[in-house]
Amino acid sequence: MDIPASRWYKVIEKRRSRRRYDERLPKDNHLKRIKSVCENFRPFESARSVFVQEPPDNVFKGIIGAYGTIKGAKAFIAFVGNSRHPAVEEQVGYMGEGIVLDAEATSLNTCWVGGTFKRELVDSLVDLQKNERVYAITPIGYAQKRLNFEERIMTGFGLMHRRKSLSETTRGMKKSQWPKWMKLSLEAARIAPSAVNRQPWMFLLDENSITVAVNDKKLRRESTMSKRLCCGIAMLHIDVAARNVGVTGKWEFLKPPGVARFSVNH
Ligand SMILES: Cc1cc2nc3c(=O)[nH]c(=O)nc-3n(C[C@H](O)[C@H](O)[C@H](O)COP(=O)(O)O)c2cc1C
Repeated sequence: MDIPASRWYKVIEKRRSRRRYDERLPKDNHLKRIKSVCENFRPFESARSVFVQEPPDNVFKGIIGAYGTIKGAKAFIAFVGNSRHPAVEEQVGYMGEGIVLDAEATSLNTCWVGGTFKRELVDSLVDLQKNERVYAITPIGYAQKRLNFEERIMTGFGLMHRRKSLSETTRGMKKSQWPKWMKLSLEAARIAPSAVNRQPWMFLLDENSITVAVNDKKLRRESTMSKRLCCGIAMLHIDVAARNVGVTGKWEFLKPPGVARFSVNH
């Protein structure tokens, strides 16, 4: 499946993680669309998505750290990867975010969940092949219209949605030198979702490329959730924003702390 750049780009800014869903079942055409995207958006060999049409309330663990639990969704998607592949986390992040953006464009809501799910239960609902692992899941459904008090607590009354400025996360070129595609790609990457909103990425720039790397310095503690997966999410945003203005590129995967380099096609 080719990336529907304008469809996904349009919802990058609007998307929010949602944790309270209402009673409506997804409409047939919405279900059909999201199932088809799960089947067909397979940009990399190591990652695939599995749509599970069961209400997942009991799949989510209770309150852990900053997170409350997620309630009322009607289905979930498991983001699965081959744990032996060296770029598995970034590839799962990139693929999963494509599906998250397509869901948003289909009027369905989502929330990446990296650690706070019952792994054995999810594994039993997903037909895992040898060496495969579920890296994250997302609930699928229609979110309640407004954030209720509980959900506002879970988002830290907006804190969990604040983002670092690009001057903190970019190196190599001055803002005034950025070509248009780069500016749009970086702005899209800046607002990508990440586990506990830690935005664990750095963008190293030269005229024809953006290199995504893991930013380790400011982390106070190692989290069990992978920073590379979040970098994969930012990569998808870079790609979509560039394509939306007619610029395509190639991804080259790098060794840690590098993640991947997007070089524009000439
Ligand atoms: C890899 C990953 C794992 C996440 N895990 C959880 C989780 O376990 N529980 C949860 O409620 N939110 C989880 N989130 C959602 C983040 O908290 C959220 O994306 C971030 O605070 C930014 O907010 P926004 O998505 O509304 O822009 C996760 C996000 C990512 C990308």
